[in-house]
Amino acid sequence: MCGIVGYVGPSVDETALDVVMEGLARLEYRGYDSAGVALIDGDGIAIRKRSGKLANLRSEIGAHPLHPSTTAIGHTRWATHGGPTDNNAHPHVGGRDRKLALIHNGIIENFHRLKTSLVDLGHTFLSETDTEVAAHLVATAYESTGDLTEAMRAAVAQLEGAFTLLAIHADQPGVVVGARRNSPLVVGLGEGANYLGSDVAAFIGHTREAMELGQDEIVTITPDSVSVIRFDGTPTDGKRYHVDWDAAAAEKGGYSSFMAKEIDEQPHAIGDTLLGRTDDAGRLVLDELRISEESLRQVDKIVIVACGTAWYSGLTAKYAIEHWTRIPCEVELAHEFRYRDPVVNQRTLVISVSQSGETMDTLMAVKHARELGALTISVCNTHGATIPRESDAVLYTHAGPEIAVASTKAFVAQITACYLLGLYLAQVRGAATSETVASIMAELGAIPPKVQTVLDRMDRVREIARFMADSRAVLFLGRHVGYPIALEGALKLKEIAYIHAEGFAAGELKHGPIALIEPGQPVFVVVPGPDTPHDLHSKVVSNIQEIRARGARTLVIAEDGDEAVVPFADEIIRVPAAPTLLMPLITIVPLQVFALELATAKGLDVDQPRNLAKSVTVE
Ligand code: M6R
Repeated sequence: MCGIVGYVGPSVDETALDVVMEGLARLEYRGYDSAGVALIDGDGIAIRKRSGKLANLRSEIGAHPLHPSTTAIGHTRWATHGGPTDNNAHPHVGGRDRKLALIHNGIIENFHRLKTSLVDLGHTFLSETDTEVAAHLVATAYESTGDLTEAMRAAVAQLEGAFTLLAIHADQPGVVVGARRNSPLVVGLGEGANYLGSDVAAFIGHTREAMELGQDEIVTITPDSVSVIRFDGTPTDGKRYHVDWDAAAAEKGGYSSFMAKEIDEQPHAIGDTLLGRTDDAGRLVLDELRISEESLRQVDKIVIVACGTAWYSGLTAKYAIEHWTRIPCEVELAHEFRYRDPVVNQRTLVISVSQSGETMDTLMAVKHARELGALTISVCNTHGATIPRESDAVLYTHAGPEIAVASTKAFVAQITACYLLGLYLAQVRGAATSETVASIMAELGAIPPKVQTVLDRMDRVREIARFMADSRAVLFLGRHVGYPIALEGALKLKEIAYIHAEGFAAGELKHGPIALIEPGQPVFVVVPGPDTPHDLHSKVVSNIQEIRARGARTLVIAEDGDEAVVPFADEIIRVPAAPTLLMPLITIVPLQVFALELATAKGLDVDQPRNLAKSVTVE
């Protein structure tokens, strides 16, 4: 939700504009309603901005070239206040002399009141954005302080809401100042150059040394220095770290899309998330958790909070967590949890799941849970992001950077990490013997090659997807752990192929959804393995017969060797067998490939679907 880049450097063999444009290209997945840059040149502040994708900004710069500079900021927008127009594109200028440029991610909640006061004072506004208010406030403060850092400090004191702001001023070349509250900002540490970005992708092509910033902090970068103060003016230090992936990981690497690459990376995402989690005695060790075993033994309820695909990973993990730990586990949409009156106390463990670690709804749910006294653990894919920082502990997934808006490899890594947490709780509380833990870990370890097998078999699924490119609606059915997989399969199709898709619990079919079945209606069915307890396999086979009898076209995902489905399936998509609770890591793959191929056949941009952004940093 808006990508932000800032750069100051010596401009030895690269100009500020090149660095910022490269950063914007890597951050475009965060929003693609408009893009813009501002830099300081000999004449003051120069700005180029255009609605639409980054390509439009490139054309604009081509038509109206910019002078070389050492100091620049850039922005790629997901519109909140004001439509996706040229005027509303960032950067915005501030001050009567128009010497300040500012970019913003987030929402300034009190902007209307501030704007009214500024208009009364004679300020002119050129856009409908909340951001322009901040530009005028920083510029006005600069007139009295003559210092950009102090001006930023004076401005943020007046703002309510969530924001990352970056500003440059024509009278202070070689300086970029950033501020953050509840919105992401990281520092890239170069040699003779420094960087700011919404995430490390903004500068990964130049440095892998980074610095986390805390909440309510202001950072000032020059080519040779990085200084951080709190909003109250006291100096502080950011936490330095080394980024454990490189620029190649954030590139397509020969694939037609990031989504295609990320689907293929899933065996690694699962394997890397499992790596190094057991000691010599085969016991599960989650060192990074740093929560005492005693605290975990006190837990009598688990609540998983998340949004979108991350929520589906929680819904999937619930089955295993309750089975292994015997602790009740609820899974709740973060934005619903936050605004009702949940029963949460010191004995509740709230697990947040978020790829980005920046989803505002999930962040607010975590803060709320902490206020209520709960123990909070973040399952996150992004080092140093806000949600892990605001939690008591973090368990990182190791999926690597996920660039495509539609989440795929993060999903399987999230399920894997939640399984590790569940098993660890079971181990700590004595609910599972060490033999049981070791045996489940071995079964988990066998999943990556099985996922690879599915990936190797996807030719027919691609054919089916191309054949179905003009479908108007597709239904997905699943039962037990197959149910959240049906939901996630439907979400993938909705978000990248713009096809109406719904997932249902197969057992619910007769309670209403079966009315949707008409001749030719395609229905994917995720079939549990024949060994699934409670004879769920037979129940789902009956469901397939029921819909087929009413004319549905059945696309059945079934284990190798499951012959019972053969008479009732129009298409069978075979997957390797695995223990019931681990099957979701395998069965989701054909549904991801199906959505990708169908959207591609429709000629859609699968990495940047309409109206969406990768991380939703506003409520
Ligand atoms: O970064 P997060 O995991 O917190 O994001 C949560 C959702 O916004 C995200 O999973 C979204 O649903 C994806 N577009 C799904 O593909």
